[in-house]
Amino acid sequence: MSKTAISVIHGPNLNLLGTREPEHYGKMSLKNINDSLAKRAKELNMDIEFFQSNSESDIVNKIQSLSTNFTIINPAAFTHSSVAIRDSLVAKDIKFIEVHLSNVFAREDFRKNSFFSDVAIGVISGLGPEGYIAALNFINQSK
Ligand code: DQA
Repeated sequence: MSKTAISVIHGPNLNLLGTREPEHYGKMSLKNINDSLAKRAKELNMDIEFFQSNSESDIVNKIQSLSTNFTIINPAAFTHSSVAIRDSLVAKDIKFIEVHLSNVFAREDFRKNSFFSDVAIGVISGLGPEGYIAALNFINQSK
């Protein structure tokens, strides 16, 4: 059987992880998060790729080009605003897990609305970087 391939997509401002509002997002950099995912993916014999952008159109273009089996996406602020990114995931019939580092339900009201949750396989919010690993482990046991 061919290897399961995963795309991980990080939305705007997540390139600043490590120094950005550590009380919400912790102290781990995006590179460290990606490195830990790459390590876990290797253990699970999965292929994994990473993409981060601050641009909505670049994320839409990336999603339109996906050929991997599953996607893990933290749409960041676009979670609460982007019909365009939601539509691209639906248009391409992408199987995805929505991940948030912080517990968006324990924060401002505007963060409680997601344009993604109802079309996601599932949502992980508030587990910090462990949330991405949990998503990978879930994909491994569900594939
Ligand atoms: C976030 C939560 C969003 O509300 C916020 O805009 C982000 C990060 C999270 O990972 O907790 O940028 O998606």
